[in-house]
Amino acid sequence: MKIGIIGAGRAGVALGYVLRRKGFEVVAVASRRQASLETAKTHLGPDCFYTLDNNLAVQMADIVAVTTQDREIKDVAAQIAAVPGRLDGKLFFHTSGAHAASELSPLDGKGALLGSLHPLQTFPDIAAGIRDLPSAYIFIEGAEKALPALKELASSIGVDVVVIESSHKMLYHVSAVFVCNLLTALLYAGEGVMGRIGIGLDPFYPIIRATLGNIEAKGPLLSLTGPVARGDVGTVSSHLEAIRDMPLHRRIYKSLSLAALEMARKRGTATEEQIAGIRRLLEEE
Ligand SMILES: NC(=O)c1ccc[n+]([C@@H]2O[C@H](COP(=O)([O-])OP(=O)(O)OC[C@H]3O[C@@H](n4cnc5c(N)ncnc54)[C@H](OP(=O)(O)O)[C@@H]3O)[C@@H](O)[C@H]2O)c1
Repeated sequence: MKIGIIGAGRAGVALGYVLRRKGFEVVAVASRRQASLETAKTHLGPDCFYTLDNNLAVQMADIVAVTTQDREIKDVAAQIAAVPGRLDGKLFFHTSGAHAASELSPLDGKGALLGSLHPLQTFPDIAAGIRDLPSAYIFIEGAEKALPALKELASSIGVDVVVIESSHKMLYHVSAVFVCNLLTALLYAGEGVMGRIGIGLDPFYPIIRATLGNIEAKGPLLSLTGPVARGDVGTVSSHLEAIRDMPLHRRIYKSLSLAALEMARKRGTATEEQIAGIRRLLEEE
């Protein structure tokens, strides 16, 4: 099976690299900018066709991965669909977590098989993608006829494959944003508070790692510790006072503490009176 990649960015190059390592034939990579193709070449080597013409990559491949930014997928599909001729049996998939295969719908009616293949992993750069893609769960969905080939590809790329309902993709992606992107934003906010007293994140990595280890072993509910879980109204009040001139950090603290308060109630680690006292602090302007 000959594979073409459209979009020589982080996901596309990492995907191409891992597929090649697994013995797949990556025959062509297309992108908008020559510079991106040059970068792709440093990872994927010279025995691949690098082009600024997406349709050339489509012509050369049996399977086409559209690894552009989400907002570009539909236009790329429309551009391919505008070329006369059929695409019978050719598999097209994109790697967006939020969207379903229908994002490629301009290709409907040309005989192409449509799907999506989303690695549940984070790639801040290509090297991280190459390193971490093989440890990812790969979520796939699409047309019934597209699934066998998608499964084969996905099982070669990652650690396991999950078939997801098309209608579940947006909520699936919201979940991924909570546990990855927003976790990153949370640690950035924590770093901001530490910055007030001139310490960095380094001494905090052991507690961050231990927290993640506990969550993996017992789940989030049983891993919660701290003043909200203990029903410590006084400490929560002092915390809010300490960051009174940091409005964004106060909002984050209050929102997440409300979530922690629900956890404390569920586990019964704080009394109803303590919960009510903390809630008053968290809900006041
Ligand atoms: N990064 C992640 O952590 C991650 C993880 C899982 C899934 N994904 C998904 O993977 C997809 C790509 O994300 P990414 O992070 O790899 O983005 P990215 O690094 O910005 O790469 C996207 C690439 O697509 C190319 N492109 C854009 N429009 C194009 C067009 N019309 N024709 C040809 N190439 C075009 C761009 O090429 P030029 O540079 O040539 O302009 C760019 O290099 C998204 O759907 C994203 O949701 C990303």
